[in-house]
Amino acid sequence: MPISTLPATSSRFKTILWVSLGLTVLFVFITSELLLITDYPMYHAYRLQVIADRHLLIPHTLAGIFALLIGPINFSSRIRQRHLQLHRILGRIYVISVFVGSFTGIALAWGRPGLPGTSMQAAAWIVCTTAAFLSARNRQIVQHRQWMARSYAVTFTFVSSRVLNLVPAYWSHLGDVLSAVGVIAFTLASLLIVDLGLNWHELTTRRD
Ligand code: HEM
Repeated sequence: MPISTLPATSSRFKTILWVSLGLTVLFVFITSELLLITDYPMYHAYRLQVIADRHLLIPHTLAGIFALLIGPINFSSRIRQRHLQLHRILGRIYVISVFVGSFTGIALAWGRPGLPGTSMQAAAWIVCTTAAFLSARNRQIVQHRQWMARSYAVTFTFVSSRVLNLVPAYWSHLGDVLSAVGVIAFTLASLLIVDLGLNWHELTTRRD
């Protein structure tokens, strides 16, 4: 549907959604990443681990940032309609970023208690992104958009799982097992929320 004929409520919903996601990214950037860089005492031990892991973390973070930023650009109907080639190039960079982010993520968790949770998150990221890529190649555009929404939901778990980082009970007392379960729970919840959103019309409207 051309952007000009999109129902006003759908377009308003999209704007509110992207503004909320953007504000959440900003909040997490300040309360997690900026405080990590400036050696906030609660994050000190983790900071030492991040420094030791820097060789894997640099490609991992770059790939993650690409995936996080390309999402909103490629979901824009306006950009897709006017610059299809740009959409395709960014889409390929997104797919490569997800694979790089997933494998470096698994390598970072290797030998640590977080491995099962991270592997499950990486598997969901790869499966949704590969399905989105294949459906695009087959010109199955409805399915392509749905799988991209699922894939981006997994990308966004990096942000959502850090919103509560400043709460001491969340940051330091969860323990290894609960943290791994937490990663899986965030991934599952994100996918379910997206699927509820994708089926919202069918769930709330009775067929004649
Ligand atoms: C938007 C996408 C992502 C970005 C920008 C990103 C970036 C980062 C950054 C900056 C760190 C170190 C600082 C911190 O923990 O805050 C990190 C750590 C890590 N990330 Fe990612 N990441 C993303 C998605 C993922 C995904 C989907 C996975 C799972 C496959 C993952 C696995 C890990 C692991 C295992 C660590 C080490 C943390 C730990 O040991 O607790 N990341 N990531």
